[in-house]
Amino acid sequence: LDRCMESLRNAGFEVKSYVVPPGEESKSGQTYLELLNFLAEIPLTRSDALVALGGGVVGDLTGFAAATYLRGIKVIQVPTTLLAAVDSSVGGKTAINLPAGKNLAGAFHQPALVCQDARLLDSLPEDVWQDGMAEVIKYGCIADAALFELLQDREAAENRMEGIIQRCVAIKKKFVEEDELDTGVRQLLNFGHTIGHAIEKATDFAVSHGRAVAKGMAMMSDLSAEQGWCSRETAEQITSLLRMYDFDLTVAQPGKILYDICMADKKRKGNYIDIVVPEGIGKCRLQRLTTEELGELLCER
Ligand code: GLY
Repeated sequence: LDRCMESLRNAGFEVKSYVVPPGEESKSGQTYLELLNFLAEIPLTRSDALVALGGGVVGDLTGFAAATYLRGIKVIQVPTTLLAAVDSSVGGKTAINLPAGKNLAGAFHQPALVCQDARLLDSLPEDVWQDGMAEVIKYGCIADAALFELLQDREAAENRMEGIIQRCVAIKKKFVEEDELDTGVRQLLNFGHTIGHAIEKATDFAVSHGRAVAKGMAMMSDLSAEQGWCSRETAEQITSLLRMYDFDLTVAQPGKILYDICMADKKRKGNYIDIVVPEGIGKCRLQRLTTEELGELLCER
């Protein structure tokens, strides 16, 4: 933060900082309103900008504040976690959580700039790094069989992270350019996320986003093999890769609890929900399920 502020000041900007505690609790309505009041008291004007220096929580919260303050000011995303670098800093999704569920209030607000420096990730604790790896593996599963293959050699992959991040961002960019408002192909980026968000919510965010998404991807792969939407081999390739990166794929919550939370998911459209299922490595599709069908799938597992 100090280096970022100094750099901006040296470039002639007047800079103020607002620090939020780490963790999903900071994506609350209360923190959001406190941040808006901080901006209003400065007061920040329409020619000013917010810089989101942090991980996914900071990016989502700052992005939503920027989307709504004065009906919208610029935001610059500077991701400092792997997860934010490969996913949440790109594409303009911003949100806060509501008591009923994750990301239930938000806006599409594209960043004016995403400033990535892989050296910011050098000091990441192992568990934060692992969280981001879930999203990296996701890109391999949904869109890039060669990336999936590369990830099979963990040591080689860890030595090529800068290139891997670029590859993930390029995939995300393509999806977002095709479907900015998430009504089509962009939804494929949600592989593992419907169940993942439900696990996060059910555990009061004790299970972090990446770990929950890993469990969600594993569960969706198993269910897809059972339903004949993908081969057992594909499902096993996905779960083996996740295990190689030390993800615990057990899901402790009963299906009924996850189902009830899924009913509040923003991806539900009336009485159906589109879930992402793998078809093969590097290829997935949307499977439309009625809420009853989803209930049967989850509750009978
Ligand atoms: N994180 C999924 C998306 O941005 O669409």
